Amino acid sequence: MPTGPSATAVAHPNIAFIKYWGNQDDALRLPANDSLSMTLGGLQTTTSVTLAPDDQSDEATLNGNRLTGPALERISRHLDLIRRRAGRRERAVVISANDFPTGSGVASSASGFAALTVAACAAYGLDLPAAELSRLARRGSGSACRSLFGGFVVWPATGDDATSHGQPLAAADHWPLVDWVVVVDRSAKHVGSTAGHQLATSSSLQPSRVQTCPHRLAVATQAILARDFAQLAEVAELDSDLMHAVMMTSSPPILYWQPASIRVMHQVRGLRRAGTPVFYTLDAGANPHCLCPAESAEDVGRALESVPGVVGLLRAEVGGPARILSTVVDQAG
Ligand code: PMV
Repeated sequence: MPTGPSATAVAHPNIAFIKYWGNQDDALRLPANDSLSMTLGGLQTTTSVTLAPDDQSDEATLNGNRLTGPALERISRHLDLIRRRAGRRERAVVISANDFPTGSGVASSASGFAALTVAACAAYGLDLPAAELSRLARRGSGSACRSLFGGFVVWPATGDDATSHGQPLAAADHWPLVDWVVVVDRSAKHVGSTAGHQLATSSSLQPSRVQTCPHRLAVATQAILARDFAQLAEVAELDSDLMHAVMMTSSPPILYWQPASIRVMHQVRGLRRAGTPVFYTLDAGANPHCLCPAESAEDVGRALESVPGVVGLLRAEVGGPARILSTVVDQAG
């Protein structure tokens, strides 16, 4: 067992209402367009990082499984960034676990890289403000930079490494929304988001999606600040549909939706026409996220459960920021 300094952090995933798709710079993960998300409380990743001064390489375990190959390399590269910044060389042992099921349609890379960044910086003795932690988290997975913060979070496309990080828009208690994650497909997605971002420019629709994004961001920001559900519903569904239109028309094309995803989308539109406040948004996968005010959550949940092809529902609320759970400075002494 390693005996070096150790830190444990938790972070929540997030769901974007204005989606990040495509990079200006793939290596730095500088996004092509602004994005805006809600941090998902009730779901979390817990990660501990322990320095292992005697080891020659990093080690990582996710949900009890030892990582190897590209998954381990991605974590090691992320630790390299943090080590370089801290002026340290020790390897580390990373132990991470999600309390939500893999394949549920909740992106674990956002909470995963947010928790890893916070725990690793603490273990390597780097005391950084949240914006700097967010910048570092971005390098592991773009959307992770938003999971540093709680509530509603904007990530502006500044095109510049130094200023590209999440910015809190409104705190978690600003607006009690509920996210029903509707599981229609538990299998792993066939194209991951890192590869997907690189295909975005091959769609002729991407330039117009990017160009019109500032307007949608302004509308969504205004809707959140004013707690205007109808306005948020309209702009968030439009933004999700635009991103999927880009995915479907890239080369090669990516089609994440399954028949049951579309049935859920129709159910949501039907509920809204009948006066129930709810909207859908889908990330790079088949499982729709359905957002509603907390007071209609039970009705909406029952209506979603009854859609043919739905195999599970996960409930999330507005969550808080990534945070340190514990640190151990020197286990040897
Ligand atoms: O952070 P990544 O590389 O996993 O990309 C996330 C992309 C979407 O989830 C589809 C959209 C978003 O803004 O979260």
